[in-house]
Amino acid sequence: MVTVRAPATSANLGSGFDVFGAALGRPADIVRVEKADRTTIDVTGVGSQYIPEDPEKNTVGAVAEALEAPAHIEIDKGVRPASGLGSSAASAAAAAVGLNELYDRGLSREALVPIAAEGEAVVSGAAHADNVAPSIMGGFTIARSDGVTAVDASIPLVTCLPEVVVSTRDARGVVPDGAHMEDVVEVVGNAATLAVGMARDDPGLVGRGMDDSIVTPARAELIAGYEAVRSAAFDAGATGVTISGAGPAVIAACHERDRQTIAGTMLDAFEDAGVDARAYQTRIGRGAEVFE
Ligand code: HSE
Repeated sequence: MVTVRAPATSANLGSGFDVFGAALGRPADIVRVEKADRTTIDVTGVGSQYIPEDPEKNTVGAVAEALEAPAHIEIDKGVRPASGLGSSAASAAAAAVGLNELYDRGLSREALVPIAAEGEAVVSGAAHADNVAPSIMGGFTIARSDGVTAVDASIPLVTCLPEVVVSTRDARGVVPDGAHMEDVVEVVGNAATLAVGMARDDPGLVGRGMDDSIVTPARAELIAGYEAVRSAAFDAGATGVTISGAGPAVIAACHERDRQTIAGTMLDAFEDAGVDARAYQTRIGRGAEVFE
């Protein structure tokens, strides 16, 4: 049996739609895999009642199939489904890393990314790798069609998760079909700034580079209280604030000294909007870890 802890992740980071991702220090999924003649799945933990155990419909079933590695797979969910914190990706990443180990497939972490992304397609309809890449490799990741670049970083973060559900399919449905050239130019500048900020581990540059005028405004409409929460976080010292992944979680980059205050003000702003929420004070962290 192999046990793997794979972290929650935040995709997009505003300016890097379907490209940027970051591993979060917490929360995480724990997945145990054991060899079997056919794949069976048990799910427990946060939101497990909403997750199908049929291997045809579960993200880890597609991973087991792609690796030709049938197994009994136990998923202990720490990452709430439909949160914007890479819930399905954490399970897919853990399964890919665990089954690779269990069956001695010898694949590199980077080679496991497209395999875990197949699991994402089962849930969201698109095999985007921007959550599975950081969950497998850790740090800040740039997922391109030809591979992944990963950068170690430890930027302090707050992720604030409201008690509402936004499905990735719905959030992808509001993404505009095209963009004006002036918005593209601005977002390219922001994305480049963010990437340099990650390489320098500079919360100011990372936050400055999170602005996105193409995808985020359309998705913000799906999250009650988003604008108020964003303003509150900036007032409390956040260097950048945006929607985490497809939402509804909101992510703020910051200096460590401001993190606790930012978490409190974001929670207050959601409460004022009539929305219960919880906040994780965290930072960019490690990728999937294997325990024998
Ligand atoms: N990049 C994806 C999206 C992440 O924003 O739809 C979904 O978790």
